Amino acid sequence: MKHIVVLTGAGMSAESGIATFRDSGGLWEQYAIEDVATPEGYRRNPQLVLDFYNARRKAAFDAKPNKGHVGLAEMEAGYKVSVITQNVDDLHERAGSTSVLHLHGELSKVRSTADPSLIYTLTRDNWEIKLGDKCEKGSQLRPHIVWFGEAVPMIEKAVEIVHTADILVVIGTSLNVYPAAGLLNYVRSGTPVYLIDPNDVSVHQPDVCFIKKGASEGVAELRNILKSK
Ligand code: OAD
Repeated sequence: MKHIVVLTGAGMSAESGIATFRDSGGLWEQYAIEDVATPEGYRRNPQLVLDFYNARRKAAFDAKPNKGHVGLAEMEAGYKVSVITQNVDDLHERAGSTSVLHLHGELSKVRSTADPSLIYTLTRDNWEIKLGDKCEKGSQLRPHIVWFGEAVPMIEKAVEIVHTADILVVIGTSLNVYPAAGLLNYVRSGTPVYLIDPNDVSVHQPDVCFIKKGASEGVAELRNILKSK
């Protein structure tokens, strides 16, 4: 079975109603990254940061996977499919993808600020964390999210996965954020690369097949292209 590795970003979930970051009207037009997505921002104003991620978590719980997520999950019938996502929602899993690596953490999880190994899963009925919500050791809980300036613990595993790809597919990411964007450099030479995005994205790989469409239509077109090969 051929191994398809799919790197996804916020555009993957756009058709599920989840805002992207850098598109016009995106989250980083409404919030300053340094206020809500850095350890310094959290130290300055933890309430603002908890509120920001509570809102993201609520939106993610309320959203449904779109046809793009479902199409990728269906591809497991014919391929080994590994999804590496920068997204912190769980829409790939809910669509049925069985191998999903979250590079930037997961909204549905929170962890202790004193002991990062203490991770807890929130549910749809219990989606908020508040100041004063503590782990079993008595420390405040924080979102299980990789903030700017923090290490990306899953990156080495992601590099290994990309290195074993027979086909690489990149969907809905502006490739602005490293080290995630650097993963494209780890494909073996000659590996076909497909890029699905309705807008131009600059990539340095030679011979990228650019499917200039949204995630749902783009995944459908990718499946047709691969079927015809
Ligand atoms: P961006 O907001 O930077 O990029 C979103 C991409 O999705 C753009 O290239 C859009 O053109 C594309 N897009 C928009 N609508 C789409 C659709 N319907 N189908 C497919 N693509 C569409 O989001 P990311 O690249 O994911 O990290 O951002 C990377 C990281 O920056 C995020 O994980 C987050 C953010 O800051 C952290 O917070 C640590």
